[in-house]
Amino acid sequence: MSPNANSGTETDAAALLAAWPHVYREGAAERPVLLMLHGTGGTEHDLLGLADALDPAAAVIAPRGRVTENGMNRWFRRLAEGVFDLEDVEVRADELVGFVTAARAQYGLGHRPVVAVGFSNGANVALATALRHPSTVARVIAFSGMHPLPGRDATAVLSGTSVLLLNGESDPMAPLPSVDALAAELEQRGARVRQVRRSGGHGVTEADVYAAQGWLAS
Ligand code: MLT
Repeated sequence: MSPNANSGTETDAAALLAAWPHVYREGAAERPVLLMLHGTGGTEHDLLGLADALDPAAAVIAPRGRVTENGMNRWFRRLAEGVFDLEDVEVRADELVGFVTAARAQYGLGHRPVVAVGFSNGANVALATALRHPSTVARVIAFSGMHPLPGRDATAVLSGTSVLLLNGESDPMAPLPSVDALAAELEQRGARVRQVRRSGGHGVTEADVYAAQGWLAS
């Protein structure tokens, strides 16, 4: 092997990223890395405007969900609306950690903190990843998310984790009892949780974005 040849790990990271469609923007070195996770039927381009609104100088990594449901991109399988295939949620969350780890190595992100920002199905995979892998994803902004892993045994300590949950009060796709159960579990496991409730249903409002900007800057 020549002294300049890539190590196996570098080659693996490059191969994983080449096979996984995503957008990467470098951002300023002292800013965090925003991991932007689209909703069902979205693509890696959907949340780039939201990333700009949250922090125009941040690095951005926006991958595409690898599951398809009737031609729509998603992050994990579901059995019905709001009924998740929990084993697949876990597998896909673990896969996303592999993606983030590869991106960190490939793009030279060093120790820059990652903030996972997701909408709907993207919020749910962000939350699942934080619940399972707090050392990789310790900060989450979840727009219209819910508990992604109800009733699953999880033991990871979340004392370094901060989560912002933004929800509509009448959202059939992210029911408040599920959001409340998630908040309680996060807190019980040591996470700092901030909840923002507004009237209305599923979506990202201007007020949500304003609240998320403030949380991110704090
Ligand atoms: C999910 O499947 O993650 C939620 O029900 C939201 C959605 O419809 O994508």
